[in-house]
Amino acid sequence: MDYLPDHNSRYKDVDYWDERYKTEQCYDWLGCFSKFQHLLENYVKKEDSILILGCGNSSMSGDMYSAGYHSITNIDYSSVCISSMSARYSDCPSMTWHQMDVSQLSFPDASFDVILEKATLDSIMVEEKTPWEVSPQTACFIHKALTEISRCLKPGGRFVSVTFANPLFRKRLYARTEYNWSIKKYSYGEGFQYFVYVMTKGEELSPEDAALEKKLREDTKSPPTTITTTQNEDKEDYLSNIDL
Ligand SMILES: C[S@@+](CC[C@H](N)C(=O)[O-])C[C@H]1O[C@@H](n2cnc3c(N)ncnc32)[C@H](O)[C@@H]1O
Repeated sequence: MDYLPDHNSRYKDVDYWDERYKTEQCYDWLGCFSKFQHLLENYVKKEDSILILGCGNSSMSGDMYSAGYHSITNIDYSSVCISSMSARYSDCPSMTWHQMDVSQLSFPDASFDVILEKATLDSIMVEEKTPWEVSPQTACFIHKALTEISRCLKPGGRFVSVTFANPLFRKRLYARTEYNWSIKKYSYGEGFQYFVYVMTKGEELSPEDAALEKKLREDTKSPPTTITTTQNEDKEDYLSNIDL
């Protein structure tokens, strides 16, 4: 089966993922765990309670389990994904699977040491015409998700985001004082570069990131400039940069 959707907007639909997961067994977006495992060593301990957002049918949860990270809660909004992954890993009792949306996490405050997402927020932003300024609807959704992530992190907990989005685009979303975290950035990959952002709860934004937040707030107060797009720009999809 060809899993590429006819339009990138399909990556936002749960129906697309449900259909895909009926037949696709395993696919790892942005590479498998071993590619960036070394970057996590200072941030994720074996005994940490870990939440994985938008787990998909990736091998990451299973690979982490095999590497000794046993307390793993996985969520995805695709019910097909959750039922097949819970069956596949039924011999890993401390790894749990739940159908849930990233913007409405049904966990108590301060539940996790680590919250990890790989390409999940990317898939939510695929329809954006420009990564410089996401639409108000998407920005609102991402803000809801990040607020939930911050809420569910323990003090000192880490939110790890693995993405193809470079800092110019991604830090604009993560650098907000209200999330109460600092941001560190790493990268991996040969040829195409991917990024790992580590947000630590309870630490302050760096002066550079605080200045970025201040600038973005000032910009939103000034009147918006009209951006006209051509038909071609409409079709432009920056997700095509992902190694499918
Ligand atoms: C690009 S795939 C990444 C899958 C996996 N994390 C990986 O690295 O290979 C995006 C995943 O996020 C899930 N997803 C998208 N939007 C979601 C949402 N709002 N809440 C929960 N899961 C979501 C999709 O079902 C899909 O499994």
